[in-house]
Amino acid sequence: MTYRTFALIALFAASARGQGGLYSQCESEHLSGWTGATTCVSGAVCTVSNDYYSQCLPGTATTTAASTTTASTTKTTTATAPGSSNTGAAGPLKYVGVNIAGFDFGCNTDGSCTASAAYPPLTQYYGKDGKGQMTHFVNDDGYNVFRLPVGWQFLTNNVLGAPVNQTNLAIYDALVQTCLDTGAACIIDIHNYARWNGGIIGQGGPTNAQFAATWSEIATKYKDTANVIFGVMNEPHDIPDITLWAGSVQAAVTAIRNAGATTQLILLPGNDWTSAGTFISNGSGDALKKVVNPDGSTTGLIFDVHKYLDSDNSGTHPECVTNNIDGAWAPLATWLRANGRQAFNTETGGGNVASCATYMCQQIAYQAQNSDVFLGYVGWAAGNFDVSYVLSELPAGSGSSWTDTSLVAACMAPRAGAQKGSTL
Ligand SMILES: *[C@@H]1O[C@H](CO)[C@@H](O)[C@H](O)[C@H]1NC(C)=O
Ligand SMILES: *[C@@H]1O[C@H](CO)[C@@H](O)[C@H](O)[C@H]1NC(C)=O
Repeated sequence: MTYRTFALIALFAASARGQGGLYSQCESEHLSGWTGATTCVSGAVCTVSNDYYSQCLPGTATTTAASTTTASTTKTTTATAPGSSNTGAAGPLKYVGVNIAGFDFGCNTDGSCTASAAYPPLTQYYGKDGKGQMTHFVNDDGYNVFRLPVGWQFLTNNVLGAPVNQTNLAIYDALVQTCLDTGAACIIDIHNYARWNGGIIGQGGPTNAQFAATWSEIATKYKDTANVIFGVMNEPHDIPDITLWAGSVQAAVTAIRNAGATTQLILLPGNDWTSAGTFISNGSGDALKKVVNPDGSTTGLIFDVHKYLDSDNSGTHPECVTNNIDGAWAPLATWLRANGRQAFNTETGGGNVASCATYMCQQIAYQAQNSDVFLGYVGWAAGNFDVSYVLSELPAGSGSSWTDTSLVAACMAPRAGAQKGSTL
């Protein structure tokens, strides 16, 4: 997710935001409009009380107060078939999915993540019903991939350079296994903007070796799981030296492959918030195409690109103003073909409004027409978001009865038919 506006606010108001005291109101920056505390004082965790209010309550992320279980109560559970003219067949894109957010809550664009603010989107951890969401998305909508963002600090329990914390990894793995159980592919996404607490990996912040060590441990755990995809890093931005950054990505790729994960896809992220529109012009493509497997090949190394459809590509406005074809997808497709490579659009989205239905359907149809170079797309976002979140893709419901948001129903779900261009 991109937070350009938020990044500016954070620069000038970081001290004002501060940490919420015990029982004060707080909010993740993922939820719209809140400019107050995003984290809580030690010993408290920002806990969702209901769709409109979160509070610093005693405890840690894994032992949030039972009051969170009242978060979603009065949802209607009318089953609606998303898209009526669908055939039920998957379109030509290989992967279509949804981001299941929550373990990244508490992460800011400077790579500061509060481990205790990670909020598992699983009911057993008092989160939303990520299992129900993913099962619905697969069974009713035809989705086949989920991206599971997680903060680096959660993985190492706030200690840079420490081994992955096995307690925390087991909690994250509960989400990974839930995802795998649906039959979908599951993207592990370290959601740190190429940073740890403000320092850029390999450029003054964490060393490449520290970054690679975390990836080596994760890859060791999942080396025999074919449906896991390794998303090296979410949205690097303002990286001074793109060649050095490619070296950091190379360190991660080498660590993953050498850990025994030799066949899974690895997603390589460029600068400028992984923008598909500036992947070439900003030098990301030329730098990242040199990243290779230990055998010198580029098999399974896929470029990670994001693109929103609002006025500033930030994904913070409900209205969509572009289908991104001329500005991003067409030139990128040409470049990918010329270089014999592929890309995966792991974040895109829009508000649940008519303009987004129009433009998103056009974007998806274009991607599908160019599925030789585009693997697919992953919508932002469901998981632990509030249903009022501007880009919410949270289905309403429970059990086996769910109703999709209008944009998912109109365009984003494979069964909506946008891949076939039927809505153009
Ligand atoms: C792992 O993280 C938990 C918090 O989830 C913490 O209590 C524990 O001390 C950590 N373990 C190590 C070995 O650091
Ligand atoms: C890439 O974008 C950054 C700003 O994000 C800029 O400083 C840099 O000069 C750009 N690099 C290229 C090669 O365009």
